Amino acid sequence: MKNALLFLSLSAGLAAPAMADLQLAQSKNCMACHAVDKKVIGPSFKDVAAKYKDDKGAVDMLAGKIVKGGSGVWGPVPMPANTQVSEADAKKLAAWVLQTK
Ligand code: HEC
Repeated sequence: MKNALLFLSLSAGLAAPAMADLQLAQSKNCMACHAVDKKVIGPSFKDVAAKYKDDKGAVDMLAGKIVKGGSGVWGPVPMPANTQVSEADAKKLAAWVLQTK
């Protein structure tokens, strides 16, 4: 039953790229600390998108932070490294975060 649901949500995700990336973020556990439009432990992804909207290097910079972790930008709580995320997935996630306006 769980597998059937997963399959359904994955195929729905293929039809809608933004949804697919939300599911990637969920599967990589990002949504345990982040939400798209409200602060949880980390900043909301909309706030991140707004902060870097004029920064052309933001995808690469954020992809690096997603894998290695980061601190001191949003508050006292650091983001731990997410070593389960490949570089390619980190870039996908960074690009997705930056378009969540
Ligand atoms: C254990 C909680 C936690 C998890 C899991 C987590 N984050 Fe974070 N994230 C944070 C915190 C806290 C910050 C703020 C760090 C700071 O102030 O520099 C942050 C910051 C960020 C930023 C902004 C970095 C910056 O320098 O502006 C992005 C983008 C981000 N996270 C994406 C992700 C993605 C994508 C994932 C999943 C692979 C993820 N996070 C998983 C807690 C988390």
